[in-house]
Amino acid sequence: MTQPMARAAAPIHEQIYTRFRSMIEQGQLSPGQKVSSLRALATELGVARGTVQVAYDRLLGEGYLVARGPAGTFVSEHTAPARPAHAKKAPVAARPFARPSAPETIVDMEGGNPAPLQMGLPALDEFPRKVWARLMTRQARKVGSLNKPPPAGYMPLREALAAYLHRSRGIDAHAAQVFIVPAYTASLALIVDALGLARESAWIEHPCYPPTAQTLKRMGLRICNVPVDEHGIDVGFGRKRFKNARLAVVTPSHQSPTGVALPLQRRVELLDWADAHDAWIVEDDYDGEYRYRGHPLPALKSMDACGRVIYCGTLSKVLFPGLRLSYVVVAPNLVPQFELACRRTVHGGCPELMQAVVADFIAEGHFSRHIKRMRTLYARRRAMLAEALAPYAADGFVVHLQDGGMHLLVDVREDLDDVALASRACDAGFAVRALTTWRNGSHGRRGLLMGFTNISSQAQAQRLVTELFRAFDLRAR
Ligand SMILES: Cc1ncc(COP(=O)(O)O)c(C=O)c1O
Repeated sequence: MTQPMARAAAPIHEQIYTRFRSMIEQGQLSPGQKVSSLRALATELGVARGTVQVAYDRLLGEGYLVARGPAGTFVSEHTAPARPAHAKKAPVAARPFARPSAPETIVDMEGGNPAPLQMGLPALDEFPRKVWARLMTRQARKVGSLNKPPPAGYMPLREALAAYLHRSRGIDAHAAQVFIVPAYTASLALIVDALGLARESAWIEHPCYPPTAQTLKRMGLRICNVPVDEHGIDVGFGRKRFKNARLAVVTPSHQSPTGVALPLQRRVELLDWADAHDAWIVEDDYDGEYRYRGHPLPALKSMDACGRVIYCGTLSKVLFPGLRLSYVVVAPNLVPQFELACRRTVHGGCPELMQAVVADFIAEGHFSRHIKRMRTLYARRRAMLAEALAPYAADGFVVHLQDGGMHLLVDVREDLDDVALASRACDAGFAVRALTTWRNGSHGRRGLLMGFTNISSQAQAQRLVTELFRAFDLRAR
């Protein structure tokens, strides 16, 4: 790796990544071998340190390299030479949950084991607990992590998130532009407070994640329901009907809950609207990482030349919801007013110990590796649930597979009431949701929302779906 990088079409970090990968696969770099430090390689190649960092992060994330703290970075022991990347390792067989009895009939949506088909949860059975425990023990030994946290967030976490968002979501932001909050709803509260939007009107997607509407209403905003069609929020409708709105809250990567992605033309329309009307866009990118066909779509924020998009991310979907850590990314000119609002709204900040553990988890490459592994796992679990539901399509329960997301939307026939079906399912211990509830009860397409991330086998998927339809009791109607 000593020749300077060629001025080829591929970006330099891509060239470094490709060269390392092929040297590892061809055995020119052997398992366990130490590789140059970031600084040394950057000097050697005459490129910026950040460029090497991007390539190294990708190699770490894909398991070609491992970081061993101060000892340096090494070629992974598990990387056998001359094997194509896709044939490297058989995916770990999904383990069923260790539950004492009647595993599929536990309902506990606020804590404990996940209820069957519960949406909004990552695969709790596959969380890397050992790594987490190690990082947690290390941080707990430090006196600093027991101190009161800064209101805007722990700086190393803000730095790690800024670097991650740059790599994976195409967002250019300095750490100072990233604010740590305990939850997505707290992000909304912070944004409304910092931008003084409490008496304004806000577009929300119709249907949308219920806490979005509830939080905005509670904060005094007037809600403007903008319909969602097969391409996401109908920006033209919003422009015509709700001209004076100052805020739009959207889920462009996978509309929540329909799963559709907002196409480029509508993204541009939305950005133009915000710029022309002195309005703000909240991009709720709650599960943007999980796309099963092609690459994850870049965030809307990555196209935001005018600084109108406030980006909201959460660690609930990637790590675990019990963490209670989310984040907001704002344009540089908004930093002072968000810093002030953080002191008013975030009530002392999020526990520094947890922030420090997540910072290490990201910086040491575990985060990227975990996302990559979950992407493969979720694609499999999604296919299992879709396959188990396929025989019911003839009865009007059609699954519309979207390219991304963590749940399925299943159509419900016109003559059936999705709210009643979800309630029967709930009585039987399932956490299935009705689409009508996400539209605040108004008429429209009926459907059921089902999470697939915690399904551990095809047999379990089959059994759950059979039990679910038994609970629907369609013949008794
Ligand atoms: C659409 C949407 N946005 C945001 C969130 C994240 O919420 P939190 O940060 O409170 O876990 C969720 C979680 O389910 C969600 O479904």
